[in-house]
Amino acid sequence: MNKNSAIDGHRLSPSLIANLFVGLLDTALPLRFPPGNYGEAATYFWGSEVTMEESIFQPYLGTRTIFKMDREILRPSYLPERLPHREGHIDQLAQILVGALKGERPSNVLIFGKTGSGKTAVVKYIENEFRKADGARMVQYFYLNCEIVDTPYGVLQSIGNKLIENFHQRIPFTGLSTDRVYNLLLEKLDEEKRVVIVALDEIDKIVQKNGDDILYQLLKINDDLAKARVSIIGISNDLKFTEYLDPRVRSRLADEKMVFPPYNAEELFDILSERSRLAFENGIADEAVLHLIAALAAQEHGDARRALDLLRVSAELAERQGDEHITEEHVQRAKNKIELDTVVEAVKSLPTQSKVILLGILLNEEIGNPKLTTGELYTTYQELCRKTGLSPLTQRRVTDLISELDMLGLAHARVRSFGRGGRTKEIQGSVPTLDVKKVLEKDEILAEARGYRLRVQTTLL
Ligand SMILES: Nc1ncnc2c1ncn2[C@@H]1O[C@H](COP(=O)(O)OP(=O)(O)OP(=O)(O)O)[C@@H](O)[C@H]1O
Ligand SMILES: [Mg+2]
Repeated sequence: MNKNSAIDGHRLSPSLIANLFVGLLDTALPLRFPPGNYGEAATYFWGSEVTMEESIFQPYLGTRTIFKMDREILRPSYLPERLPHREGHIDQLAQILVGALKGERPSNVLIFGKTGSGKTAVVKYIENEFRKADGARMVQYFYLNCEIVDTPYGVLQSIGNKLIENFHQRIPFTGLSTDRVYNLLLEKLDEEKRVVIVALDEIDKIVQKNGDDILYQLLKINDDLAKARVSIIGISNDLKFTEYLDPRVRSRLADEKMVFPPYNAEELFDILSERSRLAFENGIADEAVLHLIAALAAQEHGDARRALDLLRVSAELAERQGDEHITEEHVQRAKNKIELDTVVEAVKSLPTQSKVILLGILLNEEIGNPKLTTGELYTTYQELCRKTGLSPLTQRRVTDLISELDMLGLAHARVRSFGRGGRTKEIQGSVPTLDVKKVLEKDEILAEARGYRLRVQTTLL
């Protein structure tokens, strides 16, 4: 393919490229532009005027004078100083954990709550509070994300290394037996009288992958320690995860249990107001807009991450258009953009066979056949397998993959009865056809099916 074909084909327009790079500049440099006429070929860097030649960036650099926002504050990694509507949970945790400051081992805690309900934010907030309160350096609070550190070796090694200051004495990433790492950790822990609190975020991920041995080991470590004490905070958005635990592990881990409920629209509004007060100059996001974002996010399981994403993307769209405020229209467009991005990501990560099935649904849609029986879809699927050279799966297996597409929200599969006890699935796509087709057609294995159209058939039921 010609290197410039994406630009020639207008898929990446010059203005889009300019926007992209202005975004990069914005992240990389703390630019602050004083008000002025930026139509001229001059702009300001750190207060001094710099003459610039006319370039594709010019019109977009100008827009920055109107719109003042601090992107950092809207990023998912930003930890605010206040967490509205989690004060009660923070207080409850403070009561459970306060003993650590006096050298006592606090109860273990399990925190549950749906995605975006503030679990990680609260657990990191507590870490800061310990830092403030612990003048005597009695408590060591370690946060580990088990999606990243997902092996027993990794967990023991990470905790051990946090206690070892000398870089050359650190426990290596591999090479020792897990028992050896456990013993090294024991030794290190017991060098001082201290309380170590280990917050294991996404704890279900490590259990799913490796079983609960690591939890058993961490829970019984206190029996092997003379001076130090260890407590665990487990965090999960999978309410059922304790069902997979050995009963002894379950009961020890859940000395205390907390559930973070999803946020409702008013609570999300407060979170958004607080954040936009910090992130924007006055007037950029008015109350009506924040209420709309809060209402949309509340419909989607009260996820604060969703709400903040929606605010950030709305602001980016407004900024890019050179508008002075975020409007309801920006919010609606941001919602569509986020939804499309989510769908595109889900489609990209599908296994090839599922991509073929989804393509089959979309090709049928194109010829005016939006509702398919499993048999009809299987026929299209076989046709596409022939075209692309893939070996076809059995109809049974394809039916399973259709159910998976349904679970991912990419298709609807409803069981329908056809008199006399005949039952079949009625399958329908639930993705934007053109956008998703483009994504599917980018898959190299589906190259042969690019631009393919099904022949219109009349089906007799
Ligand atoms: N009460 C709150 N006040 C301000 N910001 C909040 C609050 N609750 C959550 N947030 C913000 O919402 C986003 C998602 O929160 P968080 O990461 O804590 O969710 P979570 O419960 O850990 O979700 P997951 O289960 O997906 O990991 C973060 O950016 C966080 O700062
Ligand atoms: Mg989290």
